[in-house]
Amino acid sequence: MNIVEIITKKKLGQELSREEIGYFVRAAATHDRTMAEDYQLTALLMAIRLQGMTARETTDLTLAMRDSGDVADLSSIPGVKVDKHSTGGVGDTTTLILAPLVAACGVPVAKMSGRGLGHTGGTLDKLESIPGLSVEESEEQFLRQVREVGVAVIGQTGSLAPADKTLYALRDVTSTVDSLPLIASSIMSKKLAAGSDAIVLDVKTGSGAIMQTLEGSIELAKAMVDIGTLAGKPVVAIVTGMEQPLGTHVGNALEVKDAIDVLSGRTKGALLEVSLLLGSHMLMLAGRCATPEEGRAMLESALRTGSGLSRLKAMIECQGGDPRVCDDVSLLPQPAVRREVRAGCTGYVQAMDTMALGLAAQAMGAGRIRKSDALDYSVGFILPVRIGDRLEEDTSFVTLCARSEEEADRAEAAIRAAITIGPEQVAAPPLCYAIVTKDGMQRLG
Ligand code: URA
Repeated sequence: MNIVEIITKKKLGQELSREEIGYFVRAAATHDRTMAEDYQLTALLMAIRLQGMTARETTDLTLAMRDSGDVADLSSIPGVKVDKHSTGGVGDTTTLILAPLVAACGVPVAKMSGRGLGHTGGTLDKLESIPGLSVEESEEQFLRQVREVGVAVIGQTGSLAPADKTLYALRDVTSTVDSLPLIASSIMSKKLAAGSDAIVLDVKTGSGAIMQTLEGSIELAKAMVDIGTLAGKPVVAIVTGMEQPLGTHVGNALEVKDAIDVLSGRTKGALLEVSLLLGSHMLMLAGRCATPEEGRAMLESALRTGSGLSRLKAMIECQGGDPRVCDDVSLLPQPAVRREVRAGCTGYVQAMDTMALGLAAQAMGAGRIRKSDALDYSVGFILPVRIGDRLEEDTSFVTLCARSEEEADRAEAAIRAAITIGPEQVAAPPLCYAIVTKDGMQRLG
């Protein structure tokens, strides 16, 4: 077997065997150039992007990537451990809300999260905006924290799914990210390697999602549920809307503030609703409740009593951060320039190019353009308007948090261009479109 034969087979649309898949995954994990050069892996990725993979090939690819490194052992943490993963969005900070709430309901959350990718934000970057907080812990510290505090959110160690790391970096720069088998195997290999007993997936759909059409998102959800089921783990995938940012705040410290406002009961709305929905399914998979409604009631009680916020505080303290941010959000990094912008016109918000909104935040310094870029945690924007809202000339449209007046000007122009305002009212898009389990799909909304 050699890499040229494998590339040729996939180029011709033929099915790869488990051994052939194992070969190139090993080459990616070990960087063994006698097995395959990067340009050959890239050619194979493009062949997969163009020819697709069968369900069997996608599962074999996932399991080979999972086994390319360590698989975390969470067995020293008592109880059913449930993980959650979002395919990525804008203003999508559900982890910071549901992880402490679920923990407050007695289900341990041992979560390994990622950094921002392209236009989407990352939980690790958001957490690092809290003064002093570290997302790097040894395995021993991580396990101890989950046993003692019930929740930890840290970065994934380099030894989990190293083949995905290599392949993802190549995909990122060769226009091969948007491939269903490659996305499904990339996400599920990391989730399976992270060692939880069950997984809730938040598959985004709409203008800010990796899969922008509903049918594409449902297909991705089904593929990931099938992989989890074949790997022996209960998986529920919930397809939720990303036609507009989920929360009102976009940017690292701003999203931490949004999460604290939700956990303090000061903010309601889409971010809270989706967090409760995902969290209720986590509680169900952990066997803590029989229905999502029952799970929601438990989470709402943790919200009302403040035990969710207390868990977040304990987690921040354990990870070296300043827990006082939970009582005083002004301790989070503050921007050099803050500018409130009015609508300046009348009409209805009809649509948003959410990817463009995410890119506007990235350009302000909230995300990386190059891998080595340092972030400015204070920047981003607050967008209180949502699709379907009526705007008057003096409606508060956006508050910009920027490094300079010039960057605020550029962001204002980009945000205005990304939001369509017109004379006819449109309906607010649903928050949730479908729930996929191993038993089938239920369409909602
Ligand atoms: N997130 C991942 O981890 N992998 C992908 O391929 C896409 C999104």
